[in-house]
Amino acid sequence: MGYTLANCPGPGYHTPTMSRAYLIAPSILSADLTRLGEQIAEVEAAGADWIHVDVMDGHFVPNLTFGPVVVEACRRATHLPLDVHLMVEAPERLLQDFAQAGATYLTVHVETCPHLHRTLQSIRQLGCRAGVSLNPGTPASSLEAVLHLADLALVMSVNPGFSGQTFLPEVLPKVTFLRQAFERLNPAGLVAIDGGITAETLPQACQAGAQVFVAASAVFKHPLGVTAGLRALRAALA
Ligand code: DX5
Ligand code: ZN
Repeated sequence: MGYTLANCPGPGYHTPTMSRAYLIAPSILSADLTRLGEQIAEVEAAGADWIHVDVMDGHFVPNLTFGPVVVEACRRATHLPLDVHLMVEAPERLLQDFAQAGATYLTVHVETCPHLHRTLQSIRQLGCRAGVSLNPGTPASSLEAVLHLADLALVMSVNPGFSGQTFLPEVLPKVTFLRQAFERLNPAGLVAIDGGITAETLPQACQAGAQVFVAASAVFKHPLGVTAGLRALRAALA
C-alpha cells in the first residue's frame, strides 16, 4: 500500500514518495451510500490506494453529489488519502471547507478556473495537494503553464457528471503529453485518468502513461463484489 497509518495524509500533511508505481482510486460515486463507511473499509482492505470523492454542483456538470460533510465522514472512515475531484463552478469559494474536512488532494477543473495559477497556489497554501483536471474536449496544452504547481493532472476519459459511462480512447494522447510534460517540468507530478476505467480499458491508459486509475462502477458495481472489482483492476496492471 502506498500509505500506512503512520504516514497517512490528513489535512496539512504532505506525504513522502509513494512506494507503488500505480495507484487505484475507487470513486464512492457508485458505492452503496447507505453503508459508506463499510464500503470504504472494504476497498481499503482490498488494497485501494486512495478514495476518490466526486463533488458535483449541478451547474458545471448536470449532477449534484457530495459536500464537505461527506468528505469529513470519509476522513473518519479511513486513513487513505482522499482524492477530492471538484466538478463545480468557482471552486475557489469551497477550497477551505474541503481542506478542513480532510481532503488530501483537491482537484479543480481548468474549465472552471480563470485564475488557475492562483487557485493551485491556494490549494497548496491550505496544506493540500493540488490537482487539475480537464474535460475530454479541452486540450492538454492548457495545463502546461501550471504543471510546476500541480501534484496531479486528472484526465477525464468521459464527459464528467456520471459514473458508468463508456471510456473515450481519444483522450489517451493527452495522458502521454501530460506525463512527458510532468517529466520535464515537475517529475513528482502524477497523471490520473477518470471515467470508464475497467479491467479492459485500464491497460491502454497505463500504456499511455497514466499512474493513477479512478474507477467507480468497475469497483463498486462489480458483480462479484468490491474486492473482486479491485483485484481485477490490479490484475490488469500486472
Ligand atoms: C465522472 C466522475 C468519475 C466517475 C467514474 O464525472 O468524475 O470519477 O465516478 O465512474 P466510472 O468509473 O463508473 O466511469
Ligand atoms: Zn472523478
